[in-house]
Amino acid sequence: MVTVSYAKLSDKLVSIRRDLHRFPELGWREERTTEKICEVLDELKIPHRRLPGLTGVIADIPGTEGVPVVALRADIDALPIHEETNLEFASSIEGNMHACGHDGHVSMLLGAAEILASESALPAPVRLLFQPAEELGAGALKMIEHGALKDVGMIFGGHIDRHFKAGVIAVTDGVVNASADKFVIDITGKGGHAARPHETVDAVIAGSLLVIALQTIVSREVNPAHPSVVTVGKFEAGTASNVIAGRCHMEGTIRTQDDEVRRHLHEALFRMAQSVGQLHGATIDCRIVESLPVLTNTLAATDIARRAAAAVVGSKRVEAMATANMGGEDFSFYIHEVPGCYVRFGGQVEGCVFPAHSSKFVFDEACLLVGAQYLAEVAKTAGETLRVG
Ligand code: NI
Repeated sequence: MVTVSYAKLSDKLVSIRRDLHRFPELGWREERTTEKICEVLDELKIPHRRLPGLTGVIADIPGTEGVPVVALRADIDALPIHEETNLEFASSIEGNMHACGHDGHVSMLLGAAEILASESALPAPVRLLFQPAEELGAGALKMIEHGALKDVGMIFGGHIDRHFKAGVIAVTDGVVNASADKFVIDITGKGGHAARPHETVDAVIAGSLLVIALQTIVSREVNPAHPSVVTVGKFEAGTASNVIAGRCHMEGTIRTQDDEVRRHLHEALFRMAQSVGQLHGATIDCRIVESLPVLTNTLAATDIARRAAAAVVGSKRVEAMATANMGGEDFSFYIHEVPGCYVRFGGQVEGCVFPAHSSKFVFDEACLLVGAQYLAEVAKTAGETLRVG
């Protein structure tokens, strides 16, 4: 058994994170990132495999045979954002930036790998999932397709969060991220001369009315105790001031924290689209692209996460999110298959107000060692539980 020096490990994690930060790669293009992960795993002598023909890595650390596997997941991709942080290790790839802290997540999981590999025996086998394309909402499903959850009994992960100080881990019961679905609406009316509206079916009028109608779904049809959002983010129609538009194209997003509400919002969207179409004699075609399910932490796994977090940072620094995040997180696909818990790692930088996905997003690197220690600890705590059965 090798003892890990946490001071040394902390320096190493900072240097891995800064290296990744300098070379941010977008979803499905994380080639260099994948190589870097494999390099570190090779040094630690941890067996691993790349997803065939894709980016992303799955590594396995052996533990007590016959016990279900504990999976730990980090997302590895960056965003198409031009970085404006002025950090000395700022992005060197024009137009790409690690603006969501996934560089930190990779570093944390590699740190956990080092801690776990130094143990003489683990209560359960541990699988490390370095997942590509989280920002595209597509990586988790591909990982699952490639056997990421085979024999897995529980899964854990987390996200850096500027709302909490470094050293804090937020472990929250129940829903932590919303579902996210995209909708696309195409209205076909009858275009014509702006001065002869009686000869036309105005797609701008039908579209405008539909935007307003959609806003009444959440405000009038959903129980206010269930947070939900319907946003029309794109509205395109018309070509000239003296032409009545015959077509209108709209796109938007639906967010909920509850499967029943999610179904209701879908049904209401179709109903209103159809009704507004009838009202104006327009044809309205409506499509919903289901993207991400609700992320709900499971009870037993959350309890394990809370104990592991307390063992690392002390119970006073284990907090909880006041409200769930209305953003989506594709960790939800794993939790739909196996029990698990998704936490937040405090990464606040004093005085910095820039949120994740901002070109000026930064985080306190002190969270890297905390995250690494937590992930290693939660793997052991969950492993003990799974071993006992
Ligand atoms: Ni993120």
